Amino acid sequence: MARDKAKETDGGWRKFIWNPDKKEFLGRTGGSWFKILLFYLIFYGCLAGIFIGTIQVLLLTISEYEPKYQDRVAPPGLTQVPKAVKTEINFSPNDPDSYNDYVQSMEKFISKYSNENQVSDKFEDCGTMPGQYRERGGLNKDGGQKKSCVFRRQWLQNCSGIDDQTFGFAEGKPCVIVKLNRIVAFKPVPPQNNSLPPEMTANYNPYVIPIHCQGKRDEDIPNIREVKYYGMGGFAGFPLNYYPYYGKLLQPEYLQPLIAVQFTNLTFNTEIRIECKAYGENIDYHDKDRFQGRFDIKFDIKSS
Ligand SMILES: *[C@@H]1O[C@H](CO)[C@@H](O)[C@H](O)[C@H]1NC(C)=O
Ligand SMILES: *[C@@H]1O[C@H](CO)[C@@H](O)[C@H](O)[C@H]1NC(C)=O
Ligand SMILES: *[C@@H]1O[C@H](CO)[C@@H](O)[C@H](O)[C@H]1NC(C)=O
Repeated sequence: MARDKAKETDGGWRKFIWNPDKKEFLGRTGGSWFKILLFYLIFYGCLAGIFIGTIQVLLLTISEYEPKYQDRVAPPGLTQVPKAVKTEINFSPNDPDSYNDYVQSMEKFISKYSNENQVSDKFEDCGTMPGQYRERGGLNKDGGQKKSCVFRRQWLQNCSGIDDQTFGFAEGKPCVIVKLNRIVAFKPVPPQNNSLPPEMTANYNPYVIPIHCQGKRDEDIPNIREVKYYGMGGFAGFPLNYYPYYGKLLQPEYLQPLIAVQFTNLTFNTEIRIECKAYGENIDYHDKDRFQGRFDIKFDIKSS
């Protein structure tokens, strides 16, 4: 009996897989299978079409030249060279080994600004004084590649590394070079003269984004004493002539404007914390982002 039953189910299975009477495979006729396959073919075809279509439409609206989504249009980060571990600069003017790394990283950075590196026809002379924004057409390939303004390393004077190849470190008067990070199409807006701290209005220029460095804590202020700024035209700011930036494809030779800051009379053997800030109507500071529009630096200069 058990065997009969087994035989029966066995036959049932076989019949299910291929039923010769009704010409059914797995319970469906060939025509039915064909319809079902056709249905899924069209169904998945449409899904794939919608998927590819949306991606194509998205790609069509994206320009190679203009960022569509920037997580930070403004404000840009303010950063300094030399970059230091935890932004601490410790050295002894008497010991070249203690500051060689700083000096080398500065020379490496500033060498892009040497005259011989700005001779190609992708550069143009934009004068020696800060001026208005230089518009160079739309953010597309219509006008071809754009020129970039020359920035002379010499403008950084004692921090240019030309006369003093140690950037002041050998004398205990260290320089830092400051730049605003590149943001395509960003136009920094200078601050109003009357919105600036009084110590900054003396050297006011309406065409620069000024920077200013001061003691981070009250006890740092008497240890800093003298700060010198070197920049285009003698102004302590980023000139507007260098903005907007058109991006790597359109403006391949672009060089950011620089400012050098020299601390010429720091107290030795003391930890001094300094904060440098850029001032502009569209430059803000964030407690969370320590590099947004400002940076901190810590000096500890040993006298022996
Ligand atoms: C540059 O350095 C030289 C030599 O140390 C000094 O005499 C001169 O006053 C400095 N220039 C400025 C603008 O500080
Ligand atoms: C900026 O303000 C200061 C102080 O109020 C004034 O002495 C200076 O002439 C002003 N500069 C310009 C360019 O307006
Ligand atoms: C540095 O500061 C000290 C204390 O204020 C001052 O006596 C000295 O003249 C300053 N040195 C220079 C070179 O300005």
